[in-house]
Amino acid sequence: MFSFNKLVTFTTILAASSAAFATPANVKKRAALDVFAPPITAPVEGDVWVVGQQRNVTWDTSNAPTQITNPIGQIILRKGEETTNILLASCFNILIGSIEVTVPEVVDGDDYALVLFGDSGNFSPDFTITSSA
Ligand SMILES: *[C@@H]1O[C@H](CO)[C@@H](O)[C@H](O)[C@H]1NC(C)=O
Repeated sequence: MFSFNKLVTFTTILAASSAAFATPANVKKRAALDVFAPPITAPVEGDVWVVGQQRNVTWDTSNAPTQITNPIGQIILRKGEETTNILLASCFNILIGSIEVTVPEVVDGDDYALVLFGDSGNFSPDFTITSSA
């Protein structure tokens, strides 16, 4: 999961450095479509989610570019090193910064995380899901 985050960062740095040397025409093209991977601010590491509860997932939209390649968001559950097929939210605008989700019925574990997709995937820290409050 860390290598994925690094890849995103690396791509962002590449994009930024190539923009610095680009011709005005290329700069304009780049400004038209920007990759936006907002960091998840909740859940935070160590959070405990109880199956069936409503929880807010939040992310930081303060660095949003004016034109986003894919503004449609999706939140998918991860467990350990694997992304599950459990979709917690979809078809929302990535700029809303927060969405309420229902904690899915899954086996207890302290190695759950979320992936927020728009242009690119961003992982939350690990948190716990439990069936007992
Ligand atoms: C999620 O955030 C909204 C807006 O701040 C709030 O009204 C709602 O109660 C929150 N939901 C939960 C489960 O905390």
